[in-house]
Amino acid sequence: MIYLNGEFVAYQDAKISAFDRGCLFGDGVYEVIPVYSRRPFRLAEHVTRLEASLAAIGLDNPHPADEWIRLIEAVIAQQTFDDQSVYLHVTRGAAGYRDFPFPQPTQPTVLIFSTELVTPDAAQKAAGVRALSHADFRWLRCDIKSLNLLPTVLMREHARRAGCTEVVLFRDGWLSEGAASNIFVVKDGVVLAPPKSQLMLPGITYDLVLELCVAHGVAHAVRPIAEPEVREADELWMTSSTKEILPIVELDGQAVGAGRPGPLAAQLDTLYQDFKA
Ligand code: PDD
Repeated sequence: MIYLNGEFVAYQDAKISAFDRGCLFGDGVYEVIPVYSRRPFRLAEHVTRLEASLAAIGLDNPHPADEWIRLIEAVIAQQTFDDQSVYLHVTRGAAGYRDFPFPQPTQPTVLIFSTELVTPDAAQKAAGVRALSHADFRWLRCDIKSLNLLPTVLMREHARRAGCTEVVLFRDGWLSEGAASNIFVVKDGVVLAPPKSQLMLPGITYDLVLELCVAHGVAHAVRPIAEPEVREADELWMTSSTKEILPIVELDGQAVGAGRPGPLAAQLDTLYQDFKA
């Protein structure tokens, strides 16, 4: 069952208007929330980010936070898997015609569904993944979790064709993030992360990794990271709600550090797994 505009329906029965602005313009925002053992992880943080994305695109939030939480929990309860990935989006609805300005009034479309969450297993974490770099050709409001995902689609397909998992993005010589993850760098025992700005998504996992560094006395710094520092890193990780903390061991065909996952990735992954347990 999926949730669509006030109803729980079988996914084959879910119907969205061809005029939905999510479909016509990518005019909406979304969230992906991991669920472990049927418990949504960092749900309040995801709902807060959703509120921020909605506010940033001038779309009235259709539900107060407690209502969002109730709906998300209802979707989780109807799914058979214990570990799930909840997807939700809100679009600016369907006006019955195609025109760019906001429809008056706006009747948003709310969609929530949940699928099985498959996080990287021990073997994948031990092997790490390969990545490519690319110029960050997205817009200047990457802090909004927007449904406009064509750059992500193109970058991830580019990566897939090269046998890679992620694309590491640079803007004007500075690390921004991954195509669908945040990127951490380790150099000389220090965990480095680029500061939040409108050029990257404020990741929920990113925040948690930094919180864990603070709580456990792991040396870290949040500061702009220049492209050469990424290429000379001892470790490189991608982080996201679905990939958790995943080491990148090769960038553009060059080994990252020793070419295998490093000790800080293992330490933070252990802290992360303990935290979520
Ligand atoms: N993507 N940056 C981008 C551009 C992302 O799309 C994501 C997540 C992240 C990591 O954010 P978080 O830790 O809150 O998941 C960073 C999700 C998983 C997706 O689009 O499927």
